Amino acid sequence: MNLPGEVRSAPALEGTALVTGGARRVGAAIVRTLHQAGMNLVIHYRASGADARALAAELNLLRPDSALSLGANLLKADQLALLAAQAQQHWGRLDALVNNASTYYETPLGSISESAFDDLIGTNLKAPLFLSQACAPALRQARGAIVNVSDLYARKPLPRRAPYCAAKAGLEAITRVLALELAPQVRVNAVAPSGILWPIDDSVEEARQAEHLARVPMGRLGGAEAIAEAVRYLLSPAAGFVTGTVLAVDGGEGLL
Ligand SMILES: NC(=O)c1ccc[n+]([C@@H]2O[C@H](COP(=O)([O-])OP(=O)(O)OC[C@H]3O[C@@H](n4cnc5c(N)ncnc54)[C@H](OP(=O)(O)O)[C@@H]3O)[C@@H](O)[C@H]2O)c1
Repeated sequence: MNLPGEVRSAPALEGTALVTGGARRVGAAIVRTLHQAGMNLVIHYRASGADARALAAELNLLRPDSALSLGANLLKADQLALLAAQAQQHWGRLDALVNNASTYYETPLGSISESAFDDLIGTNLKAPLFLSQACAPALRQARGAIVNVSDLYARKPLPRRAPYCAAKAGLEAITRVLALELAPQVRVNAVAPSGILWPIDDSVEEARQAEHLARVPMGRLGGAEAIAEAVRYLLSPAAGFVTGTVLAVDGGEGLL
């Protein structure tokens, strides 16, 4: 408990973190938060190279040689392996992996294509598993941690999104399996947001936005920083005995 008047700052973090999909939106907030906490950042991107390079430049101005951007399509096994290797090489260590990259769009039953299934499962489940596998030796050496960014809809059914929900449910399952396999050296946890930012394609019109917010006890979207702070906690020494858990950051939506 803090004494009156005492301001306790968040615990400092050390080492290097790889954040997938780190150039924009939630990923960029995670990158900024971990950097501010003291970590060096590998900012992974696929199409958002300009944003990733700009973010790395901004962070390197604040602290020289503290950020690096690396491109990879996580659906391609060779690019994923190269990303893992390069992320470990630059600073000679890897302390944290944040599996944040994702795709999210409607796939109503009757029109689910194999390519959409492969994409949604590939980005949200297969890539986090194979990236964790590729990074595990370095993470074990560093006694590091993995945080997977899941979704409330891993546990709550969302119509027209069967592959996405299945992928996130799988992501939570591998969070628990890897927590067992990598203990005691590496902790593995997940964060499960609900509405944080509206989708990138503006596909949620105003009436549906209001409908969504009416279902959230906190009455608002969380904002990217809410996820970033949860990730920071799960990587911090304060969470040193926390592994295999899924931390809901959903404004209470999961309670209903
Ligand atoms: N936004 C929300 O309200 C919300 C709610 C619940 C859960 N979440 C979860 O929170 C995380 C972040 O959400 P977000 O809305 O910020 O995500 P997003 O904007 O939809 O996607 C994040 C990044 O994933 C990268 N990505 C997609 N396909 C890729 C591929 N094949 N290879 C490599 N990178 C790929 C993209 O990088 P490039 O731009 O570089 O291509 C994209 O910027 C996701 O895991 C999401 O499921 C978000």
